[in-house]
Amino acid sequence: MEHARRPILAGNWKMFKTSGEARRFVDGLSSHVGSVAGLADLVICPPFTAIAAVGDALGSASVALGAQDVYWEVQGAYTGEISPPMLVDLGCRYVIVGHSERRQLFGETDETVNRKVKAVLAHGMNVILCVGETLGERRAGATESAVLAQVRAGLAGISSDQTAGIVLAYEPIWAIGTGENATGEDANHVIRGIRSAVVEIAGPSVAEQIRIQYGGSVKPGNIAEFAEQPDIDGALIGGASLEPDSFIQMAQTWIGRRS
Ligand code: PGA
Repeated sequence: MEHARRPILAGNWKMFKTSGEARRFVDGLSSHVGSVAGLADLVICPPFTAIAAVGDALGSASVALGAQDVYWEVQGAYTGEISPPMLVDLGCRYVIVGHSERRQLFGETDETVNRKVKAVLAHGMNVILCVGETLGERRAGATESAVLAQVRAGLAGISSDQTAGIVLAYEPIWAIGTGENATGEDANHVIRGIRSAVVEIAGPSVAEQIRIQYGGSVKPGNIAEFAEQPDIDGALIGGASLEPDSFIQMAQTWIGRRS
Protein backbone atom coordinates (compact mmCIF):
# COMPACT_ATOMS: atom_id res chain seq x y z
CA MET A 1 0.00 0.00 0.00
CA GLU A 2 2.85 2.41 0.74
CA HIS A 3 3.73 2.40 -2.92
CA ALA A 4 0.34 3.88 -3.79
CA ARG A 5 1.62 7.22 -2.52
CA ARG A 6 3.43 9.11 -5.23
CA PRO A 7 6.84 10.35 -4.09
CA ILE A 8 7.21 14.10 -3.69
CA LEU A 9 10.58 15.83 -3.71
CA ALA A 10 10.64 19.50 -2.90
CA GLY A 11 13.56 21.89 -3.15
CA ASN A 12 13.60 24.60 -0.51
CA TRP A 13 16.03 27.19 -1.83
CA LYS A 14 15.83 29.33 1.33
CA MET A 15 17.51 32.74 0.79
CA PHE A 16 19.53 31.71 -2.25
CA LYS A 17 19.45 32.73 -5.94
CA THR A 18 18.62 35.91 -7.77
CA SER A 19 16.10 35.62 -10.59
CA GLY A 20 18.92 35.22 -13.14
CA GLU A 21 20.48 32.41 -11.14
CA ALA A 22 17.07 30.81 -10.76
CA ARG A 23 16.52 30.89 -14.53
CA ARG A 24 19.87 29.20 -15.09
CA PHE A 25 18.82 26.46 -12.66
CA VAL A 26 15.66 25.80 -14.67
CA ASP A 27 17.67 25.74 -17.93
CA GLY A 28 19.82 23.03 -16.42
CA LEU A 29 16.85 21.08 -15.11
CA SER A 30 14.47 21.16 -18.05
CA SER A 31 16.09 18.60 -20.32
CA HIS A 32 16.10 15.99 -17.53
CA VAL A 33 12.61 16.46 -16.18
CA GLY A 34 11.13 14.02 -18.68
CA SER A 35 12.93 11.15 -16.96
CA VAL A 36 10.87 11.56 -13.81
CA ALA A 37 7.63 13.00 -15.18
CA GLY A 38 4.59 11.13 -13.92
CA LEU A 39 6.65 9.07 -11.48
CA ALA A 40 7.27 11.66 -8.79
CA ASP A 41 6.00 15.12 -7.93
CA LEU A 42 8.77 17.69 -8.09
CA VAL A 43 8.38 21.07 -6.42
CA ILE A 44 10.72 24.03 -6.39
CA CYS A 45 10.35 26.71 -3.73
CA PRO A 46 12.46 29.75 -4.69
CA PRO A 47 12.63 32.93 -2.63
CA PHE A 48 9.62 35.20 -3.32
CA THR A 49 11.69 37.41 -5.59
CA ALA A 50 12.51 34.56 -8.00
CA ILE A 51 9.13 32.79 -8.10
CA ALA A 52 7.94 34.60 -11.23
CA ALA A 53 11.22 33.94 -13.06
CA VAL A 54 11.13 30.25 -12.19
CA GLY A 55 7.48 30.01 -13.23
CA ASP A 56 8.23 31.64 -16.60
CA ALA A 57 11.27 29.48 -17.21
CA LEU A 58 9.48 26.26 -16.28
CA GLY A 59 6.69 26.92 -18.77
CA SER A 60 4.83 23.65 -19.13
CA ALA A 61 7.56 21.52 -17.55
CA SER A 62 6.03 19.16 -15.03
CA VAL A 63 7.61 20.76 -12.01
CA ALA A 64 5.38 22.57 -9.54
CA LEU A 65 6.11 25.97 -8.13
CA GLY A 66 6.05 26.61 -4.41
CA ALA A 67 6.72 29.35 -1.88
CA GLN A 68 8.62 29.14 1.39
CA ASP A 69 6.12 31.01 3.54
CA VAL A 70 2.96 33.11 3.37
CA TYR A 71 0.87 35.43 5.52
CA TRP A 72 -2.72 34.44 6.25
CA GLU A 73 -4.51 37.68 5.37
CA VAL A 74 -5.65 38.31 1.81
CA GLN A 75 -4.43 41.93 1.72
CA GLY A 76 -3.95 44.89 4.01
CA ALA A 77 -1.46 46.97 5.94
CA TYR A 78 1.06 44.20 6.65
CA THR A 79 4.38 45.64 5.52
CA GLY A 80 6.70 43.07 4.06
CA GLU A 81 4.19 40.21 3.94
CA ILE A 82 2.95 38.16 0.98
CA SER A 83 -0.64 36.88 0.77
CA PRO A 84 -2.04 33.60 -0.58
CA PRO A 85 -3.72 35.24 -3.62
CA MET A 86 -0.37 36.82 -4.55
CA LEU A 87 1.19 33.36 -4.64
CA VAL A 88 -1.73 31.91 -6.60
CA ASP A 89 -1.27 34.78 -9.06
CA LEU A 90 2.34 33.66 -9.67
CA GLY A 91 1.28 30.07 -10.26
CA CYS A 92 2.32 28.63 -6.90
CA ARG A 93 0.76 25.29 -6.09
CA TYR A 94 2.59 24.59 -2.84
CA VAL A 95 3.54 26.60 0.22
CA ILE A 96 5.99 25.47 2.89
CA VAL A 97 4.51 26.32 6.28
CA GLY A 98 6.17 26.15 9.70
CA HIS A 99 9.74 25.53 8.59
CA SER A 100 11.91 25.34 11.69
CA GLU A 101 13.90 28.38 10.55
CA ARG A 102 10.65 30.36 10.54
CA ARG A 103 9.75 28.94 13.94
CA GLN A 104 13.18 29.52 15.50
CA LEU A 105 14.37 32.73 13.85
CA PHE A 106 11.13 34.55 13.04
CA GLY A 107 8.82 33.77 15.93
CA GLU A 108 6.46 31.39 14.15
CA THR A 109 4.23 29.60 16.67
CA ASP A 110 1.93 26.60 16.44
CA GLU A 111 -0.95 29.07 16.28
CA THR A 112 0.44 31.14 13.40
CA VAL A 113 1.42 27.94 11.59
CA ASN A 114 -2.16 26.69 11.86
CA ARG A 115 -3.55 30.00 10.56
CA LYS A 116 -1.21 29.79 7.58
CA VAL A 117 -2.17 26.18 6.85
CA LYS A 118 -5.84 27.19 6.77
CA ALA A 119 -5.14 30.21 4.56
CA VAL A 120 -3.15 28.19 2.02
CA LEU A 121 -5.88 25.55 1.79
CA ALA A 122 -8.60 28.19 1.52
CA HIS A 123 -6.87 29.49 -1.61
CA GLY A 124 -6.59 26.09 -3.24
CA MET A 125 -2.86 25.55 -2.81
CA ASN A 126 -1.12 22.58 -1.19
CA VAL A 127 0.63 22.79 2.15
CA ILE A 128 4.01 21.34 3.04
CA LEU A 129 3.79 21.45 6.84
CA CYS A 130 7.15 21.12 8.59
CA VAL A 131 7.61 19.60 12.01
CA GLY A 132 10.71 18.51 13.89
CA GLU A 133 12.41 18.25 17.25
CA THR A 134 15.41 20.15 18.60
CA LEU A 135 18.57 18.37 19.66
CA GLY A 136 17.63 18.99 23.31
CA GLU A 137 14.24 17.36 22.81
CA ARG A 138 15.83 14.39 21.10
CA ARG A 139 18.36 13.93 23.91
CA ALA A 140 15.59 14.16 26.47
CA GLY A 141 13.66 11.38 24.70
CA ALA A 142 10.95 13.87 23.76
CA THR A 143 11.17 13.57 19.97
CA GLU A 144 7.79 11.95 19.52
CA SER A 145 5.90 14.22 21.91
CA ALA A 146 7.42 17.37 20.38
CA VAL A 147 6.76 16.31 16.81
CA LEU A 148 3.24 15.03 17.40
CA ALA A 149 2.29 18.19 19.28
CA GLN A 150 3.33 20.22 16.22
CA VAL A 151 1.37 17.91 13.92
CA ARG A 152 -1.79 18.16 16.04
CA ALA A 153 -1.52 21.94 16.39
CA GLY A 154 -0.75 22.45 12.70
CA LEU A 155 -3.71 20.36 11.58
CA ALA A 156 -6.20 21.69 14.16
CA GLY A 157 -9.55 22.48 12.60
CA ILE A 158 -8.64 21.07 9.19
CA SER A 159 -11.19 18.67 7.65
CA SER A 160 -10.20 15.07 6.99
CA ASP A 161 -10.56 15.59 3.24
CA GLN A 162 -8.16 18.51 3.32
CA THR A 163 -5.75 16.74 5.62
CA ALA A 164 -5.38 13.95 3.06
CA GLY A 165 -3.87 16.40 0.58
CA ILE A 166 -1.40 17.97 2.99
CA VAL A 167 2.26 17.01 2.75
CA LEU A 168 4.00 16.70 6.10
CA ALA A 169 7.75 17.15 6.31
CA TYR A 170 9.56 15.64 9.26
CA GLU A 171 12.75 17.64 9.67
CA PRO A 172 14.77 17.08 12.84
CA ILE A 173 16.18 20.53 13.54
CA TRP A 174 19.63 19.21 14.41
CA ALA A 175 19.87 17.68 10.93
CA ILE A 176 19.04 20.80 8.92
CA GLY A 177 21.99 22.31 7.11
CA THR A 178 24.40 20.53 9.44
CA GLY A 179 25.44 17.65 7.21
CA GLU A 180 24.22 15.38 10.01
CA ASN A 181 21.23 13.39 8.80
CA ALA A 182 18.94 11.09 10.73
CA THR A 183 19.34 7.47 9.70
CA GLY A 184 16.68 6.14 7.36
CA GLU A 185 15.41 3.82 10.08
CA ASP A 186 15.25 6.56 12.65
CA ALA A 187 13.38 8.87 10.31
CA ASN A 188 11.01 6.07 9.33
CA HIS A 189 10.28 5.35 12.98
CA VAL A 190 9.28 8.96 13.70
CA ILE A 191 7.32 9.19 10.46
CA ARG A 192 5.44 6.00 11.31
CA GLY A 193 4.54 7.66 14.63
CA ILE A 194 3.27 10.71 12.74
CA ARG A 195 1.16 8.47 10.50
CA SER A 196 -0.36 6.80 13.58
CA ALA A 197 -1.21 10.23 14.97
CA VAL A 198 -2.93 11.07 11.69
CA VAL A 199 -5.11 7.97 12.17
CA GLU A 200 -6.42 9.57 15.38
CA ILE A 201 -6.70 13.04 13.84
CA ALA A 202 -8.30 12.22 10.50
CA GLY A 203 -8.91 8.46 10.30
CA PRO A 204 -7.09 5.48 8.80
CA SER A 205 -7.76 6.16 5.15
CA VAL A 206 -6.36 9.71 5.38
CA ALA A 207 -3.33 8.35 7.25
CA GLU A 208 -2.77 5.88 4.44
CA GLN A 209 -2.98 8.63 1.81
CA ILE A 210 -1.09 11.47 3.44
CA ARG A 211 2.46 11.92 2.20
CA ILE A 212 5.23 12.45 4.73
CA GLN A 213 8.67 13.61 3.67
CA TYR A 214 11.96 13.48 5.49
CA GLY A 215 14.17 16.58 5.44
CA GLY A 216 17.56 17.45 6.90
CA SER A 217 20.86 17.14 5.00
CA VAL A 218 19.38 14.97 2.26
CA LYS A 219 21.80 14.73 -0.68
CA PRO A 220 22.51 12.46 -3.64
CA GLY A 221 24.82 10.33 -1.50
CA ASN A 222 22.27 9.48 1.19
CA ILE A 223 18.84 9.79 -0.39
CA ALA A 224 18.57 6.07 -1.15
CA GLU A 225 18.60 5.38 2.57
CA PHE A 226 15.35 7.32 2.93
CA ALA A 227 13.79 6.18 -0.32
CA GLU A 228 13.90 2.57 0.73
CA GLN A 229 11.91 3.17 3.91
CA PRO A 230 8.23 2.18 3.65
CA ASP A 231 6.73 5.20 5.43
CA ILE A 232 8.83 7.95 3.88
CA ASP A 233 7.21 9.41 0.78
CA GLY A 234 9.79 11.90 -0.38
CA ALA A 235 12.18 14.57 0.76
CA LEU A 236 12.33 18.27 1.51
CA ILE A 237 15.77 19.30 0.37
CA GLY A 238 17.65 22.50 1.12
CA GLY A 239 21.29 22.83 0.12
CA ALA A 240 21.37 19.88 -2.27
CA SER A 241 18.40 21.26 -4.25
CA LEU A 242 20.35 24.29 -5.46
CA GLU A 243 22.04 22.46 -8.34
CA PRO A 244 19.83 20.98 -11.07
CA ASP A 245 21.97 17.87 -11.55
CA SER A 246 21.87 17.06 -7.88
CA PHE A 247 18.10 17.67 -7.66
CA ILE A 248 17.26 15.49 -10.64
CA GLN A 249 19.67 12.78 -9.55
CA MET A 250 17.90 12.57 -6.19
CA ALA A 251 14.51 12.27 -7.92
CA GLN A 252 15.84 9.51 -10.17
CA THR A 253 17.30 7.65 -7.21
CA TRP A 254 14.01 7.86 -5.37
CA ILE A 255 12.04 6.53 -8.30
CA GLY A 256 14.54 3.77 -8.91
CA ARG A 257 14.35 2.57 -5.33
CA ARG A 258 10.59 2.51 -5.16
CA SER A 259 9.72 0.94 -8.49
P1 PGA B 1 19.07 20.98 4.21
O1 PGA B 1 17.71 21.77 4.53
O2 PGA B 1 18.72 19.93 3.18
O3 PGA B 1 20.01 22.02 3.68
O4 PGA B 1 19.52 20.35 5.49
C1 PGA B 1 16.48 21.10 4.60
C2 PGA B 1 15.38 22.06 4.95
O5 PGA B 1 15.61 22.95 5.78
O6 PGA B 1 14.26 22.00 4.41
